[in-house]
Amino acid sequence: MSNASRQTMIDAVTGEFRRLYGGEPDGLFFAPGRANLIGEHIDYNGGHVLPCALTRGTYAAVRKRADQNFQFYSLNFPEEGPGTDQSWTSYMTGVMQVFAKAGMSMDTGMDVVIGGDIPAGAGLSSSASLEVLTGTILKELYGFSVSGEDIALYGQEAEQKYVGVECGIMDQFACAMGREGYAIDLDTAAVTFEYVPIPTDGISLILTDTNKKHDLRTSEYNRRRQECEEALRQLNEAALKQLNAAAARERDPEPHNPGHDPEPHSPGHDPEPHTPGHDPEPIPCLCALSPERFEELSNGIDDPVLRRRAAHAVYENERVRLAAEALRGGDPETMGRLMNESHQSLRDNYEVSCFELDVLAEAAQAIPGVLGSRMMGGGFGGCTISLVRDEALESFKKIVAEEYRRETGIDCTVHACRSGGGPVRIR
Ligand code: GLA
Repeated sequence: MSNASRQTMIDAVTGEFRRLYGGEPDGLFFAPGRANLIGEHIDYNGGHVLPCALTRGTYAAVRKRADQNFQFYSLNFPEEGPGTDQSWTSYMTGVMQVFAKAGMSMDTGMDVVIGGDIPAGAGLSSSASLEVLTGTILKELYGFSVSGEDIALYGQEAEQKYVGVECGIMDQFACAMGREGYAIDLDTAAVTFEYVPIPTDGISLILTDTNKKHDLRTSEYNRRRQECEEALRQLNEAALKQLNAAAARERDPEPHNPGHDPEPHSPGHDPEPHTPGHDPEPIPCLCALSPERFEELSNGIDDPVLRRRAAHAVYENERVRLAAEALRGGDPETMGRLMNESHQSLRDNYEVSCFELDVLAEAAQAIPGVLGSRMMGGGFGGCTISLVRDEALESFKKIVAEEYRRETGIDCTVHACRSGGGPVRIR
């Protein structure tokens, strides 16, 4: 986003603040939205992900009040007016409650005007942006001592507890810890990270919005999480069985009936328990498995749907490892190919794509000079992300838009995006 539109947003929230509440705000704040290069639906499976903060995001003009009351107003939801319990305010009050639980209670209420240039529901994390913005306001205006990582974790907790989405840590982390020109190689199991430069030389990151809002997101999202938990449970059972079988072979190297168990037993009740005190370490999360180890155990998952869910997590994690390596090694072609594979797996194995996203990704992938294209974020709508050589940009915009209109009857919106920095107090 250009400085001109940044200034427009600042003027808009400040102007509305003066009109609604009179006088000047104590502070002006910004927190970015995020894009994700690769690593989808594995931040709750202990995988690595590769998001970046955007230059677009959410702005706030805020003033502490003398009393304990709150007034919230959003330029994006003017029809809801100023008040305390609009549809969107739980993202802010949720964060305040998480801070309070951690011993950081606000001594006064506040008057707030919010505005932003990321559309809600486009998969650019307007919600995480608002949560990180709130954490930043609390830190700066109320003097609470919290790090960027803390703000991300508090935001995630707020979203899980007070909004009801069992999300991972990726979005809040990317919004809180962004650095201009870099993606974040985030290990979501250890919550450790490294910055990886994003290639900009002759290559653009393009977000294409389906402009289609799907309402499956929360329910299917939480369902995928449960499916992954069940797949992990069955994989742990399979690993234990394998261990018991190996121990049995060691005790009795000449099995009487190889390959055939004379007394079938119910799963989880192995007649030859392994030596007590020698429990294997349980597999902590799907992404702790290498593809090889997963293939050894995957027959232990009884349902083919669950097997595909788990396969997505394991192989997507491997793709992120290769993608980070490709970025570090200046190999955008490999990065693009991995993005295409990611889309295929999200569509076929994880089943979180939709017709509109498939049309966009497939139209883009067919254009020479488009290195890669895939659905981004939770899925069922929102945006695709594409890595496009500059010389292919014009044909991208034309061909993708035409193809999309022909197939769906609606218009998509194409945004060139740049990776930006983390949250800031502007004044
Ligand atoms: C949403 C969630 C994230 C992540 C993505 C899918 O954006 O908030 O935690 O799981 O979906 O990768």
